[in-house]
Parts: sequence; C-alpha cells; structure tokens
Amino acid sequence: MIKVSPSILASDFSKLGEEAVDCERAGADMLHIDVMDGHFVPNITLGAPVITSLRKCTSLIFDVHLMISDPEKYIPDFLKAGADMITFHVESDVNIKNAIELIKSSGKKAGLVLKPATPAEACYSYLDSIDMVLVMTVEPGFGGQSFMEDQLEKISLIRKECEKRGLSTDIQVDGGITDETAPLVIKAGANVLVAGSFVFKGDKKTAIDSLKKLS
Ligand code: DX5
Ligand code: ZN
Repeated sequence: MIKVSPSILASDFSKLGEEAVDCERAGADMLHIDVMDGHFVPNITLGAPVITSLRKCTSLIFDVHLMISDPEKYIPDFLKAGADMITFHVESDVNIKNAIELIKSSGKKAGLVLKPATPAEACYSYLDSIDMVLVMTVEPGFGGQSFMEDQLEKISLIRKECEKRGLSTDIQVDGGITDETAPLVIKAGANVLVAGSFVFKGDKKTAIDSLKKLS
C-alpha cells in the first residue's frame, strides 16, 4: 500500500495550519516537514517552535526530515514539539547509532536519509534498527526540482536488502515526485511518497488520490 506524505515546503506558510488540515482532509497519510539549517543545505526553513504550533492543528503523523548538521543536538526538541517520525542524513555530523536510539527510546520512529551521491550500502548496518530509509531523488535543499532517475537503482538495492533480511522497512522517496515519476519509484520498491509541488500546485485530493491509486 502506497503512503503519501505531502511536503509543507511547497505550502503557503502564511496559513500553515489550514494547509495541514487540508492535507489531512485530502487523504494524506502523514505530513512531511522539511527542517533546513542553512548549513547542511543552502536554505533555511523552520524549527521546533513552528512544529509545536502546527501540532495543535492536526493529528496527522508528523514526518520530520532533518537537513541539519548536528541532528543529535536538536532531536530532543523535535520530539518534544510533536514529531512522530524523524529522519536524518547519514552524511551529517552524527553518531548514527546514538541518534537512532535517542528517537526510538521516546517511542517514535527513526529513519535514515541518503543524498543522491551516497551509496545504498551506507544504511545497511542500521537496517535492522530503523523504520524507514529515505532515498533523496533530488539534491536536498529546495522544492520544485527535477526527479533524478539514476536513484532508482539505489531504491531497488535497498528493497532487495530488506527482503533478504525479512524486513518490511518503509522506503520513502523525496524530490520531483509526480504521477509520472511515482510509478517508477514504486516499481523499484518505494512505498512512501513525499510530494511537495505536485500536491500543493493544484487540488490536493486529486493529486493525493492519483498517487495512492498506484498502490
Ligand atoms: C527537498 C525537500 C523535499 C521537497 C520536495 O530538500 O526534502 O521534501 O520539499 O519538493 P518537490 O516535491 O517539489 O520536489
Ligand atoms: Zn524532504
């Protein structure tokens, strides 16, 4: 079953609460919240206080994607703010094992993110202890970029490795996902689709339905 996580990066930040509620009503499975620090990626978005406020508006699962240099330092803040799932980059300055434990010890879900140049194997040592792998299909930092087809092989490799170990780990994809690129990533083994521009540029329900019907 395909799950859709609209990225609020493409929403109107002046009415973030309404946008989140709209996503919930339109059938989103979770809400993708992109946190950027202007250091790990060349863009700045939002921090834990915004998530605390947003938490009051919706009961959607908060899927928080940390694009920050020092995830361990800020993970407690994001957990407290209401994150249900936190993904962080293997390329950041982090003790991966400790950060996973930090998230899981609070009963929340943990995932690892791989930038386009990072090989599939970078997550293999941690596969047995995480809930999700996020394969970036654009360079992290900005919405509205073109899907990188060369990431499909990485998705397949990770799905095969999970199957080999008997794991039903979620594989999420993020960047350039539309009703045209989604069938490719699903075929490769992804089951959680992040979509920013595609969901927010038009009618949310039509867009989300078009992705979910690919199940
Ligand atoms: C990029 C972010 C994405 C982005 C996706 O760094 O991680 O979540 O918002 O936007 P679209 O779907 O427009 O490519
Ligand atoms: Zn993201």
